Amino acid sequence: MQYKYLLEYNKKNHECNPCHVAIIMDGNGRWATRQGKIRIMGHKEGFRAVKEAIKFSIANNLKILTLYAFSSENWNRPLFEIKALMELFLFALDTEIKNLKKHNIRFKVIGDITCFDKKLQNSIHYAEQITFDNTGLILNIAANYGGRWDIIESVKKIINRVQRGILDVNKIQENTISQYLSTSELLPVDLVIRTGGEKRISNFLLWQIAYSELYFTDVLWPDFNCHIFQHAIDSFVSRERRFGGFKKNKK
Ligand code: IPE
Ligand code: IPE
Ligand code: MG
Repeated sequence: MQYKYLLEYNKKNHECNPCHVAIIMDGNGRWATRQGKIRIMGHKEGFRAVKEAIKFSIANNLKILTLYAFSSENWNRPLFEIKALMELFLFALDTEIKNLKKHNIRFKVIGDITCFDKKLQNSIHYAEQITFDNTGLILNIAANYGGRWDIIESVKKIINRVQRGILDVNKIQENTISQYLSTSELLPVDLVIRTGGEKRISNFLLWQIAYSELYFTDVLWPDFNCHIFQHAIDSFVSRERRFGGFKKNKK
C-alpha cells in the first residue's frame, strides 16, 4: 500500500479507535526500586504488562501494537542488566510462541538485531516466520531500535538505488524515505503512549510520529493495565486531528 493512501485512510478513520498504537514502556527500574527489589524484577513484571497490553489490543481490534523494548542507547546500561533483558526476551519468545499462533498474531521485530546473541536472533526469525501468515494483530517489537538509525538505513538504501541508476535523485519524496524505513509495510502510527512520567521520545519512531497523537502517563510500566490503556484510547478518540488543516464545520 502506498504511504499516501495509508495517510488518507488514517485521516478518514481518525474519529475511531487508533489502528496503530506504539508504546514506550518506561519505568521498570523505578518500579522495582520502589518495591525494594533489583531493577531486573521490574523488567520481569514488565513482561506481565506486555501480555495485558496485547490482550487489550486484540479485544479492541487494534491492527498494530508496536512496543519499544530496547533502544539503541540502552547498551549504556550495566552489562548484567543488558544480559537479563536479553534472557527475558528469549524466555518470552520461547514461552509465548504458541500463544502468538493461537491468537493469530503476526510477530515482527524492528531494529538492528545483528548484534544480539545468535540464539536470540534465531528465535526472533523463527517467530517471524511461523507467524508471517497470521492475519490478526501485528505485534511489532522495537529491539535495539533507534529512530535515527532507522532514518540512516533508509537513506543508505536510497543512495544505493541512486548510485545504481534505479532512482532519480529529483524523484525523492517523503514517501521514498517512508518506503525504506523498518515500518514501511505498517499503517502510520496513530497514538504513542509513554509510561513512567518522562515527557520525551527517547529516539523512538522519529520520522513516523510526525502527526501521531501523544499520551503520557506517570504510571510505571509494570503497573500498566487495560484501564490505563482504555484512558489513552479515550483521550485519542476525543482529540481532533487536523494534519495541518482545519475542520470546516468548526469555529
Ligand atoms: C524501561 O524501563 C525498560 C527498558 C528501557 C528496557 P527502565 O529500565 O528504563 O526503567 P526506569 O526508567 O529506569 O525506571
Ligand atoms: C526508552 O526508555 C527506551 C525504552 C523504553 C525501551 P529509556 O529509559 O531508555 O529512556 P530515557 O533514558 O529515560 O530517555
Ligand atoms: Mg527508563
